[in-house]
Amino acid sequence: MKNPPHMHPQTSSVSEGFDPTLSVMAVRPPIYPVSTYCFPNAAAAAHYFEVLLGKKDAVPGEPIGLVYARLNHPNAEMFEDSLRSVERGAHAAAAFTSGMSAITTTIFTLARPGTKILYQRPVYGGTDHVFRGILPGWNVDAIAVDPDRWDEALAAHGKDVSMVYIETPANPTLAMIDLDAMRVLVDRHCPGGGVPIVVDNTFLGPVFQSPLEHGADLCVYSATKFLGGHSDLVAGAITAKDPAIVTRVKANRAFFGTICEPFTAWMLQRSMATLWLRMTKQSKNASKLVDVIKAHPAVERVHYPTLFVGDQARIFRKQCRAPGSMIAIDLRGGREAAFRFLDQLSLVRLAVSLGGVESLASHPRTTTASEMSDEDLRASGVTEGLVRISVGVEYWRDLAKDITGALDAAAR
Ligand SMILES: Cc1ncc(COP(=O)(O)O)c(C=O)c1O
Repeated sequence: MKNPPHMHPQTSSVSEGFDPTLSVMAVRPPIYPVSTYCFPNAAAAAHYFEVLLGKKDAVPGEPIGLVYARLNHPNAEMFEDSLRSVERGAHAAAAFTSGMSAITTTIFTLARPGTKILYQRPVYGGTDHVFRGILPGWNVDAIAVDPDRWDEALAAHGKDVSMVYIETPANPTLAMIDLDAMRVLVDRHCPGGGVPIVVDNTFLGPVFQSPLEHGADLCVYSATKFLGGHSDLVAGAITAKDPAIVTRVKANRAFFGTICEPFTAWMLQRSMATLWLRMTKQSKNASKLVDVIKAHPAVERVHYPTLFVGDQARIFRKQCRAPGSMIAIDLRGGREAAFRFLDQLSLVRLAVSLGGVESLASHPRTTTASEMSDEDLRASGVTEGLVRISVGVEYWRDLAKDITGALDAAAR
């Protein structure tokens, strides 16, 4: 029972990946809390292993049966099909235990000792820790590149680069990168082609940005955020143009043990059906709130795509379908003002994470970005007065009242 082809992602997000005939005709997917699966015969078992461990290619269209839940299981596969169907340009997807395990499993598949990863700062603090604190121990050099130095950096390191890693919009400043332009530079400077551009698309998600249609090879997601959307699970995902890359990452996922477990994968698939509704409402809410926030005297600067100027505005218009629901505010008065703002909020909860139905706020400098070096903090504009808000689905006027009261407190 297949869905018609070429459906809009809004439609495929509702039911793609689920076939009722495989599940006693249930309308929605059941959970399969099962660790191991029966093989039809011994030869099939041997073949499944060869394909799943990346030793042999599957014949196109050939269904590969289930084996053991650390390799694959129905709930992960259903979520993966659903995510693949909404990610424009994707031909495969994989689900993980967390955004960090999606990122690290991908890195340990694509990078090799002695190679370099070039990345645009800022990146999420956990990713920054892997780049600066862990990869050097494995002889992989992660080099932060300033926005206007990519040509120079790729010219200098091109032949040693195993991966270009971009977070756009970046956490927490929302800085954007032109992915089409990055593709041109990478292909110009990295001989032999094939250097993958990996994009952390967590902030705008497949709803508002399609990196694979702008020259990227892989998207990584913290599915804990918008894909999950309810702050009740931790998970991650990747999508890619080339299914062969995903097969390689999945082979490592099997050995690292980083596959998303059945219950979480089931929750993720359930969340996919409301992804468009949630993200659209959240983005509309944020756009209205920004008009209120930017007019307040406590505010030095608001980082939000509709307020971008110059090249950042051009990239937003070209690459994104909507501004999304993350707002960063630079408050006058530094850390003290930021803390007064956060402590005054009541409807908006003081917590890290983002992308849930409820609004959250945090102080990146002392929390998620606290491990960044002083140089990176300065270069990326993560100031003491910066607060980050993830806007939820509440009625926007209630949020505006809460945020205005907190801005008043910040100004005191
Ligand atoms: C942009 C971004 N990427 C990756 C991650 C890591 O995701 P997780 O917490 O699901 O491991 C986060 C977490 O906040 C994030 O904001």
